[in-house]
Amino acid sequence: MAERKLTLNDPESGKNLDLPVVAGSEGDPTLDISGLHKELGYFTFDPGYGTTASCKSDITFIDGGKGILRYRGYPIEQLAEQSSFLEVAYLLLYGELPSAAEFTGFERDITYHTMVHEKLNTFMQGFHYNAHPMAILSGVVGSMAAFYHDKLDVNDPEQRDLAAKRLIAKMPTIAAAAYRHSQGWPSAYPKNSLGYSERFLHMMFSVPAEPYEVNPVAARVLDLLFILHADHEQNASTSTVRLVGSTGANPYACTAAGIAALWGPAHGGANEAVLNMLNQIGTVRNVPEFIKRAKDKDDPFRLMGFGHRVYKNHDPRATIIRKACHDVLQELGKQDELLDLAMKLEEIALEDEYFVDRKLYPNVDFYSGIIYKALGIPTSMFTAMFAIGRTVGWVSQWLEQSNTPTRIGRPRQVYTGATERDYVAIEKR
Ligand code: CMC
Repeated sequence: MAERKLTLNDPESGKNLDLPVVAGSEGDPTLDISGLHKELGYFTFDPGYGTTASCKSDITFIDGGKGILRYRGYPIEQLAEQSSFLEVAYLLLYGELPSAAEFTGFERDITYHTMVHEKLNTFMQGFHYNAHPMAILSGVVGSMAAFYHDKLDVNDPEQRDLAAKRLIAKMPTIAAAAYRHSQGWPSAYPKNSLGYSERFLHMMFSVPAEPYEVNPVAARVLDLLFILHADHEQNASTSTVRLVGSTGANPYACTAAGIAALWGPAHGGANEAVLNMLNQIGTVRNVPEFIKRAKDKDDPFRLMGFGHRVYKNHDPRATIIRKACHDVLQELGKQDELLDLAMKLEEIALEDEYFVDRKLYPNVDFYSGIIYKALGIPTSMFTAMFAIGRTVGWVSQWLEQSNTPTRIGRPRQVYTGATERDYVAIEKR
């Protein structure tokens, strides 16, 4: 079959340029424009990178029109139903589901690395008690490079693998410690007899004064949330990790940058913003007023938890989480007025012409906050929860990038500033 291409004709120079279509296993055809500047002298302008593929990747596939999400080819629905977070982590990192022996070895490795250096705990004490957990998380994760600097050769695959495992293993320990710091509680060490999600809940809520039993329903739903958040191809935080990674920076620095990008309310910070918004709306009676505000271009208010850059049909993660949300509240015997409010908001928005025309549907974050709240996790920790799950995606993408010859990421710009002018001495201005 002839190579698919698009031929560009430049009337300015009279030159033609063939733009070859880059072969992917599925997804929309993508043009290779890397010769455009060299051959015709043009850059491309794509604010927000809405039509730009920044890399080739084997990890996650999304079809936003059809509402499809697959990790390494496996539909998210099947993984959510049948797998566990650590198994999904293995899949994302290494490309295949593990055998029983491979899984045992991987789980042992992750468990082995759950503790953090004691000095890292001391370092955390330097933060003010009311510091946001995401500020602590990005600071402390960045500082991990200072603790493991002797094993940071990013050109050594073994050291890269070790760093990836360390990040996955320690992220829940650091996140829980950030919360405990805000409460003034003593450090809780990871209990390695527990599974990944149970261990996190234990570190979050156990206190020396009382026994603490992890609720298996809570641990199961948390594991599900981590699976749903584990990777999402080249989203803002993952692209940040890759951009920083393209400079050859160490994985702790790359991940700290990813955490900082995730914090924004348009990205991972949306789960916290959803709960704040629901509290602000307060009652079902106020829903129409807030819908009106969301549609008003002069009002900065947006319906948090609605809309997605890629999903223009439905967010498959939201479908799974919506059901989990109802199940969990029932199993935990919790009534939540905010869930009723969220349902009403969803119902009204989904019938509204503005949201229908723009294909704005609830995204994963619309429901996750209600589940976290039912588990007793405070609002300020919601984005840190997202970060725990997404760490697997960040390090998988970083490993993939590190295994591939990569040029430093360096976008260009359309310069709109002053053209050349002469310096004027201060007394003459
Ligand atoms: N409320 C009201 N209007 C909206 C919303 C919203 N949540 N989202 C998009 N729109 C409008 C937007 O104003 C625009 O209208 P128009 O065409 O008249 O100018 C149109 O819909 C298209 O939106 P956009 O801003 O071009 O979409 P985007 O792809 O640049 O932004 C988004 C995607 C997720 C940042 C945005 O929908 C948003 O801010 N949503 C709320 C925050 C949120 O829930 N974020 C979590 C995303 S899912 C978790 C994750 O992966 O991080």
